[in-house]
Amino acid sequence: MIKRSSKQINNLPSKKPVHFQHHTAEVSLEATIGKETKIWHHAHVREGAKIGMNCVVGKNVYIDIEVIVGHNVKIQNNVSVFHGVELGNGVFVGPHVCFTNDKVPRAINEDGTPKKTTDWKIKKTIVKDGASIGANATILPGITIGTFAMIGAGSVVTKDIGDFELAYGNPAKVQGKVDKSGNIIKKSKTRREK
Ligand SMILES: CC(C)(COP(=O)(O)OP(=O)(O)OC[C@H]1O[C@@H](n2cnc3c(N)ncnc32)[C@H](O)[C@@H]1OP(=O)(O)O)[C@@H](O)C(=O)NCCC(=O)NCCS
Repeated sequence: MIKRSSKQINNLPSKKPVHFQHHTAEVSLEATIGKETKIWHHAHVREGAKIGMNCVVGKNVYIDIEVIVGHNVKIQNNVSVFHGVELGNGVFVGPHVCFTNDKVPRAINEDGTPKKTTDWKIKKTIVKDGASIGANATILPGITIGTFAMIGAGSVVTKDIGDFELAYGNPAKVQGKVDKSGNIIKKSKTRREK
C-alpha cells in the first residue's frame, strides 16, 4: 500500500497505475489506497481510511474515517462502512449493506445540545477474510463475522457469526454451513421439508 499525493490522482503514472478513481469520487488525501483498486462514481473515502490492493469500491459507497479494508474486497453500490469497521481480505459486501457503530445513538445530550462527533461510542465490527454479506443486510455494532461466513440478503445481524456459517433472517440465525466457493454444504431443514 502507498500513500497517495494529489499528483498521483490527477496524473497517473503511465506504466504502473496506482489506482483508478472516477472523477466524481471524493477521496481524502489522507486515505491510503492500494494499487489497482477502483473507486467508482460519487464514492466518498474519508481521512485515515486504508483500502488494500485490487478492491472495487462501488458507486455511492461511503468509507468512514479510519476504516480498514483488506485486499481483493468488493464493496457494491450504496454501501455505508462506518468508523470502527474492519473488512478482511476477499470480503464481499452486497449492495445497500449498512454497518453501524453506536448501539444506542442519540443526536442530542440531555440538555438538548447537539452531540459532537467525538461523542460516538464506537464498537468495533470485524468481517474476516473471504466472508460475504448479502444485499441490504444491517450489521449491528461490535459484531464479528467469521472467515468465509455467508450472510443472507436483508438480514439483521445481531450476534457474532462463526467461520463458514450461513446465517440469515431478522434477527439472523445460523442456518447451515458453506464452503470457500459459497456452496451450501449443510443446511437446516426448510419449512417445506419439516
Ligand atoms: C441466504 C442464501 C444464501 C440462502 O440460500 P438457500 O439456502 O439456497 O435458500 P433457499 O432458497 O433454499 O431458502 C431456504 C429457506 O430460507 C429462506 N431464506 C432464504 N434466504 C433468505 C434470506 N436472505 N432471509 C430470510 N429468509 C431467507 C427461504 O424463504 C426458505 O424458507 P422456507 O424454509 O420457509 O421455505 C440466499 O437466499 C441469499 O440471501 N443470498 C444472498 C444474495 C445476495 O444478496 N447477493 C448479493 C449480490 S447481488
